[in-house]
Amino acid sequence: MKRQWWHDKVAYQIYPKSFYDSDGDGIGDIPGIIEKLDYLKDLGVDIIWLSPVYRSPLADQGYDISDYYNIDPRFGTMEDMDRLLAEAKKRNQHIVMDLVVNHCSDEHEWFQKACRDPEGEYGQYFYLRKLKKADKAGTMQKDAGPDYSVCSPDGYVLPCNWRSYFGGQVWEKLPGHEDWFYLHVFHKKQPDLNWENPKVREEIYRMINWWLDKGLAGFRIDAIINIKKVLPFCNYAPDRPDGLCDISRMLRDASGVGSFLGEMRDRTFAPHQAFTVGEVFNEKEGELPAFIGDHGYFSSMFDFSETVWGNSPAGWHKHKGITPDNYRSCLFSMQQKTAGIGFISNIIENHDEPRGVSRYIPPEDMQSMPEEMRIAAKKALATIYFFVKGLPWIYQGQEIGMENIPFNSIEEVDDIASLDAWNVMRGEGISAEEALAAVGRHSRDNARTPFQWSASPGAGFTAGTPWLRINPGYTEINLEQQMHDPASVFNYYKKLTALRKDPLFCETLIYGDFEPYLEDVSRVIAYLRRAAGQTILVLSNYCKETRSLPLPAPVKKVLLDNCAGSPLQITEKDVVLTGYRTLVMEMLNGGSLCYSFSTPAL
Ligand code: GLC
Repeated sequence: MKRQWWHDKVAYQIYPKSFYDSDGDGIGDIPGIIEKLDYLKDLGVDIIWLSPVYRSPLADQGYDISDYYNIDPRFGTMEDMDRLLAEAKKRNQHIVMDLVVNHCSDEHEWFQKACRDPEGEYGQYFYLRKLKKADKAGTMQKDAGPDYSVCSPDGYVLPCNWRSYFGGQVWEKLPGHEDWFYLHVFHKKQPDLNWENPKVREEIYRMINWWLDKGLAGFRIDAIINIKKVLPFCNYAPDRPDGLCDISRMLRDASGVGSFLGEMRDRTFAPHQAFTVGEVFNEKEGELPAFIGDHGYFSSMFDFSETVWGNSPAGWHKHKGITPDNYRSCLFSMQQKTAGIGFISNIIENHDEPRGVSRYIPPEDMQSMPEEMRIAAKKALATIYFFVKGLPWIYQGQEIGMENIPFNSIEEVDDIASLDAWNVMRGEGISAEEALAAVGRHSRDNARTPFQWSASPGAGFTAGTPWLRINPGYTEINLEQQMHDPASVFNYYKKLTALRKDPLFCETLIYGDFEPYLEDVSRVIAYLRRAAGQTILVLSNYCKETRSLPLPAPVKKVLLDNCAGSPLQITEKDVVLTGYRTLVMEMLNGGSLCYSFSTPAL
């Protein structure tokens, strides 16, 4: 694996709408981000990804772009953006924007022109189809796959029966036309761009280069696997009573995305040496080297194996909860899959997911543990994902241990994906109580509530009315209070970033081999990182009970302890760890086993 400038960095995701509001309109903005660059520097952050700030109707919170070359006035101006780039540069920080090019907004001028003239040039920018109604007997067009064909509500036979990610059919009537329809795999305000059209690709490459020329370090690449569709459109067996099938079914059959991705890399990212991280959920067996190998389409991609674990296409009420052992096997298998190939991007949460501490620490533990152990557990989770191989990402608020927000009713929910999931569950007869509980576990709003800067009104996020409800926990969990507490989650995150960059250990922590440890012991999450002459052990007693755990070699030095200050019982052969206690240790003898041991049962 070739070494890259970004390998030793720490990355951070900002969801601008909820980060910091500098002008009191209740919406976070770019000047607010600039004000907080020093804070991020102090935390140890080098790469900053901004979720979209382009001009947008915000139907999907900015992932519906109506002008790729402008900033939405709610977030600021292009001058603000230029200032952000310049200020970040001064601090040796790199700004990465979201690249949303599977679709644009229905308010983008390309789509407006397509609506005016579906058979003209801009009609080819999208997937538009002129459709016919089913005949009276209800029989469908011959080539539409008679078994699974579906109709629009007014009887037009649709080209395929795929279900949009946000619910319902992927086909929507083209505004101003009776028999023309367009494809949207996300929301109906997000028409899919037709990547098969070389003109569309040219437009996209021009835009990417324009931003990179401006000094952007690169992009996080949104929903990118969806750019390749199965064509001609076809139907699949429905997986719900709505007669539709999950998009993932189509993606399994879609082949050839690599030629688009390779072209995009060669025309844009490669000449700029840009850093790119793909949002890739559905890569196929054996495709990792093509995606993130030395000459991959992207620099890196996110590890979503634990994110999607236990998800069911049948609905959120059917999603299974992830146990610590499930989490460990996801994390470790991705480490093994990427070994020698590329650098994965490690996360515990993002703007589409619940808070990591509310998902990967068993909720029953979170509810029953004393406060001190809850904080230890948050630090344990942070330690575990931070020191596996790859680029560690912190999502805003994670560094202070922000938790899911409690919902009292569906009226409190903003997220379009949650509202669809609610409708699906209610449609299937799930009680309001159960459906709300499932929304509480999975809603994207959990991560989108405003950053809790302080205990003052508006959580220090805004002087106005916040666009989204503030998590009522902000009086207990907030940055101001944690800054002054040496034992806080925040100060622990600072230690994590500092250790990863410590010249004495960074070679091992960044490039060292990964090796699971005590993998057969339930609720221990442990691994070794080895480089020439140095071995580091991360050992977490990921449960509430105190346990004595064997050591593979005597400890040379404890580098990090999430319960620093509490006495530590440690011998050459084992260590006693209280609930969720987690250590990062440099081992003696290069960490090679110096005696045999048997592993204890839980
Ligand atoms: C990605 C984004 C998500 C958005 C979707 C459509 O998954 O992370 O927030 O809704 O793409 O752009």
